[in-house]
Amino acid sequence: MRWLALWLCLGTCSSCSGAQSALDPAGEEARQIAYLFWLMAIAGGFIWLTVIGLLVHATRHERTPIDERIASRLIFWGGAAIPSLLLFLLLGYALWLMPGLRPFARAGEANGLRIEVTGEQFWWRVAYHPADGGVPILSANEIRLPVGERVEFLLKSTDVIHSFWIPALGGKMDMIPGRVNRLSLLATKPGTYRGPCAEYCGTSHALMTFTAVAMQPAAFREWLAVRANPSPGASLPGRDIFLRNGCGACHRVAGTQAEGGVGPDLSHMSSRGTIGAGVLPTDDEAVRSFIAHPHLIKPGSKMPDFNMLPQQDIAEIASWLKGLE
Ligand code: CUA
Repeated sequence: MRWLALWLCLGTCSSCSGAQSALDPAGEEARQIAYLFWLMAIAGGFIWLTVIGLLVHATRHERTPIDERIASRLIFWGGAAIPSLLLFLLLGYALWLMPGLRPFARAGEANGLRIEVTGEQFWWRVAYHPADGGVPILSANEIRLPVGERVEFLLKSTDVIHSFWIPALGGKMDMIPGRVNRLSLLATKPGTYRGPCAEYCGTSHALMTFTAVAMQPAAFREWLAVRANPSPGASLPGRDIFLRNGCGACHRVAGTQAEGGVGPDLSHMSSRGTIGAGVLPTDDEAVRSFIAHPHLIKPGSKMPDFNMLPQQDIAEIASWLKGLE
């Protein structure tokens, strides 16, 4: 029994850190939420321990009659006044935090970079809108943002309700078809974090994740500038097989005739750590498998199987995609 308790306790503690932990904050909003969580957990723990303590006391000790006046006071203070005061203080603190977590209150602080993220079954469409109003830079399934600069997210959906959440950076926000929800986040610690879809959206809901990379501002701007241009690998020979098999009808690869907007933008696919919205690492074998059997890897995805193509063609498409740095 003791070992079970210890094991459960260690299991709980392991979720207090890592790339997808709200209790290991790397952003201003997440820090405030984590602080609120610990405050509520400690206050709740205190109430729980007091009640259990009283229960143990009542069951272990002989019953002795107490004065009715003392009993009434005990019920008033222990049963009504103290719990109400504690709950009122916690509510007051939570309400006090709320304005700062609202996007519009912080809109003036944003440095102008807006990242539009659209939830799709079952991946993330990403567009970086530069501060100067220039052409948006398109990407998918990975979000990069500068540390120490407030970024405004414009959250949309084209099909069903999804929910955008980077636990290490802040709270979640629904992506609702037909409207734009705004979320403002300030990353404070460079690192790579994981974001899951937090609203059940269909068969592959659990396979809909993305990577959020918080970078030093100079490195971020350099990274974004590279993404504004086609990948040098786009002109290599595998391109013709990709275009000949109609892949460009659904996917866009900057610098080629592939202009499709149905599936994820693949212009710099190889620079992302995963494919299929966080399902597999970006290596040759995974890319080949995904082209041949997307439904086995990602049930419910709109991409048809391409296992009718010769193995050689699949391999060449995969190696060309791998070259799109
Ligand atoms: Cu998208 Cu769940």
